[in-house]
Amino acid sequence: MEIFTMLFVFTSLLFSILSISNTKDIITPSVSIRDGETLVSSGGSFKLGFFSPGYSSNRYLGIWYNEISPLTVVWVANRENPLTHLSAGALNITNQGALVLLSDTNRNSIIWSSNTSRKFIRKPVAQLLESGNLVVNDGNELVWQSFDYPTDNLLPGMKLGWDLKTGLNKVLSSWKDADDPAPGEFSFSIDRSGYPQLVVKKGLRAQYRLGSWNGLGFTGSPELRSANELFKFDFVLNESEVSYKFELLKDELHSRLLLNLSGGLQRFMWADKSLSNNIIYSAPVDRCDTYDLCGAYAFSFCRLGTDPQCSCLQGFVQKSPRYQNSKNASLGCVPKTPLGCSNGFQNFTRAKLPDTSSSWTNSSMSLEECKKMCLRNCSCTAYANLDISGGGSGCLLWFGELIDIKEFDSGGQDLFVRTALLGLDDVKTSKPSGVKKKAAIIASVGLLGMGMIILGLVFYKRKKKLKAQGKMKNIREKNFDFECGNEDMELITFDLATVSRATDNFSNNNKLGEGGFGPVYKGTLIEGQDIAVKRLSKCSGQGIKEFMNEVILIAKLQHRNLVKLLGCCIEGDEKMLIYEYMPNKSLDYFIFDDTRSKFLSWDQRINIIGGIARGLLYLHQDSRLRIIHRDLKTSNVLLDKDMNPKISDFGTARAFGADQTEENTNRVVGTYGYMSPEYVVDGLFSIKSDVYSFGVMVLEIVSGKKNRGFYHPEHKLNLLGHAWTLWIEGRPLEVLDKMLDGSCPLPDVSRCIHIALLCVQQQPEDRPNMASVVLMLGGEGSLPAPKQPGFFTDRNPVEADSSSTKRESHSINEMSVTLLEAR
Ligand SMILES: *[C@@H]1O[C@H](CO)[C@@H](O)[C@H](O)[C@H]1NC(C)=O
Ligand SMILES: *[C@@H]1O[C@H](CO)[C@@H](O)[C@H](O)[C@H]1NC(C)=O
Ligand SMILES: *[C@@H]1O[C@H](CO)[C@@H](O)[C@H](O)[C@H]1NC(C)=O
Ligand SMILES: *[C@@H]1O[C@H](CO)[C@@H](O)[C@H](O)[C@H]1NC(C)=O
Ligand SMILES: *[C@@H]1O[C@H](CO)[C@@H](O)[C@H](O)[C@H]1NC(C)=O
Ligand SMILES: *[C@@H]1O[C@H](CO)[C@@H](O)[C@H](O)[C@H]1NC(C)=O
Ligand SMILES: *[C@@H]1O[C@H](CO)[C@@H](O)[C@H](O)[C@H]1NC(C)=O
Ligand SMILES: *[C@@H]1O[C@H](CO)[C@@H](O)[C@H](O)[C@H]1NC(C)=O
Repeated sequence: MEIFTMLFVFTSLLFSILSISNTKDIITPSVSIRDGETLVSSGGSFKLGFFSPGYSSNRYLGIWYNEISPLTVVWVANRENPLTHLSAGALNITNQGALVLLSDTNRNSIIWSSNTSRKFIRKPVAQLLESGNLVVNDGNELVWQSFDYPTDNLLPGMKLGWDLKTGLNKVLSSWKDADDPAPGEFSFSIDRSGYPQLVVKKGLRAQYRLGSWNGLGFTGSPELRSANELFKFDFVLNESEVSYKFELLKDELHSRLLLNLSGGLQRFMWADKSLSNNIIYSAPVDRCDTYDLCGAYAFSFCRLGTDPQCSCLQGFVQKSPRYQNSKNASLGCVPKTPLGCSNGFQNFTRAKLPDTSSSWTNSSMSLEECKKMCLRNCSCTAYANLDISGGGSGCLLWFGELIDIKEFDSGGQDLFVRTALLGLDDVKTSKPSGVKKKAAIIASVGLLGMGMIILGLVFYKRKKKLKAQGKMKNIREKNFDFECGNEDMELITFDLATVSRATDNFSNNNKLGEGGFGPVYKGTLIEGQDIAVKRLSKCSGQGIKEFMNEVILIAKLQHRNLVKLLGCCIEGDEKMLIYEYMPNKSLDYFIFDDTRSKFLSWDQRINIIGGIARGLLYLHQDSRLRIIHRDLKTSNVLLDKDMNPKISDFGTARAFGADQTEENTNRVVGTYGYMSPEYVVDGLFSIKSDVYSFGVMVLEIVSGKKNRGFYHPEHKLNLLGHAWTLWIEGRPLEVLDKMLDGSCPLPDVSRCIHIALLCVQQQPEDRPNMASVVLMLGGEGSLPAPKQPGFFTDRNPVEADSSSTKRESHSINEMSVTLLEAR
């Protein structure tokens, strides 16, 4: 009896063991998988069945490697809803093609289901493919697949990312713990908020980024290129999907990418099943990958092997002043000087590109176009090539803060970061020495033709003398006390090497011309920006004083009709000003040349006159300082690529107190032909002396003739005198440039000449101010009758009195001259 009972127990046990090893190869509405049964893939690599993870007794439906022990589960169906009793579940398939996991104990309760949108399928079949993908077919096409619902493992051929047609986002999520496959805190996904990038997040917070695709691999793991011998990556970005997958290149290989319990990514790869624990890659690679380490703070980067690991990008400093001297960037960095709309970029090489969540792309642009695109938008902070394969192509732009940059020892790619500092690699932060500073305070030097004489001596003597005379204005003293490149100047110090390189060592080929104070060169910075370099010649009339003056004044000025100063360079004897480059040279280059003047239509001339007037109005009234230029002339009006005028050369300009209208100088600086009588004769200058020069320029622009050196067979008058004569004779239009004949509205020409004559009247108080001039130029109302201009003959009184031949030669060359008036 007992034997029989035991036999019975034995056989039923045997039966149950047999039933446990009972394997199937398909599921149909009539074939289900019960706990203890498994579905095996065609080649035998994978198995689907019920399992209990770790020490848990809960049952889950999952897929694991058939031949690998310990049990390595790659997919779980009912992650969040386990069966709590052994042998309690069954996986059926419905006539709609939905897989349903049913509980035996709680009849008909659905533990998990793969929903489908299909109403009825004649012969639904579920099958486990050799790839590890559980698929449902209707005989022809795919109805559902487990690859679309990944858990914590990415298998070869499985796509991570977005199906844009269905909106399905395939994300890896870690297990909660070794005993519980429910989704844990960590996820690995493609973030599409900007240019797509691979991110591991903890909850909603980024933990680390593998980064964006750059054609060869992901920017965060340059060592892992898609082209290797064992496997390849594939990144697809088109209208229908944004996805990442990998594929093995050798049949005998197996691999999986696991998002593990602590949020690490581990790529396992093996050929021999006993080595299935072989990890060939893991992320994060190092501490620098940690998004929060420095990444969460803007404009810093992480470098391996240095301590501390986070530093501010070049040109940026610690946000918190308390830490400004420490290299610890973990509080975030800010630009040293406002980035504004600067057009300088630094080439940050070997970079893991910053977070692309606020980025913009165009896949067909070149790097050069990309740079231009970035320049166009002031909130663009960096650019890079989108695709670095095949020499580089495409454009990736960042807006706002740059976050999570890492510098690799090797690999990585070039990132171009906008910076207020031009030629940044070469910027010297050292301040000018005390000697230079003193030199900068020099009050007055510059004897004509003598250049700079032992500055120190002159400085002390002169300053004492002037102080004693009480003539030195506080405003000037204050203005000269500065250092090129200091914070509130918002100016950049270039070093000599940079400028020298940009101008090809000041080669003659790059020489644009010779100003009154030295040669001007064209240059090109490494970043590609064109510049004009004004090099103060060592023996020029423009001393340190004028140089500093120009720097101070123009650095504070911002107007579209004023030329923009980019920076300066003071090194040893060298003093240079670096300006934006004006491709169309200066106004005199056009209007006084028979051929080129043809290219200046009346409309362009009017536009130029209006532009100069507005620039001058800004100088006189609207800028923070009241400024008198003192050397306005056509060669100091530069033209940009659209022929817009920009006033340049502020070497002789003077800042005025707001309550001041006139100043007396013992040093007359300017250019004959443009200087007003009261200035040349009495050294009195005011905004009205600039108005006079403006009037002269207007007549020159309209006539195409120079005021000085004007020649007429019938009289010995200069251009002003000639225009005045024609005016009183009632035929002012004869002043007009022959080139313009018949092409311009004569009333406008007449009005222009009228305004010019008002500007050049003898008495300063008769001349309009620039505000009135701007109104008159734009208006149509009646104008007062002009009185006789000052200086309508060729020879200026001062010059006539003078015996200096040197001065004569200067004036002939249209150079700015400095007169020390005998007092
Ligand atoms: C489906 O599952 C239930 C158990 O929940 C089982 O009773 C039934 O026989 C299964 N159907 C098929 C066709 O296997
Ligand atoms: C599948 O079920 C989920 C909820 O479990 C639902 O949000 C989704 O729309 C369903 N998909 C289809 C194709 O019915
Ligand atoms: C997107 O890329 C995938 C994979 O290369 C391709 O199958 C699909 O046709 C593409 N879709 C479009 C709209 O180009
Ligand atoms: C997860 O992976 C990381 C490497 O990426 C590793 O350092 C960590 O030990 C792993 N955690 C577990 C629990 O295996
Ligand atoms: C950097 O500053 C942060 C915040 O003050 C601090 O927690 C960290 O320890 C500092 N690191 C170093 C290396 O000084
Ligand atoms: C950036 O620097 C790298 C490395 O020095 C160089 O190869 C590359 O040409 C530079 N790019 C530009 C645009 O200057
Ligand atoms: C990308 O840039 C190219 C070349 O500049 C341009 O023709 C194209 O319209 C741009 N595409 C987009 C979407 O901006
Ligand atoms: C600059 O780019 C930002 C971000 O794309 C955009 O919001 C802004 O309108 C752009 N500005 C200009 C002037 O194009």
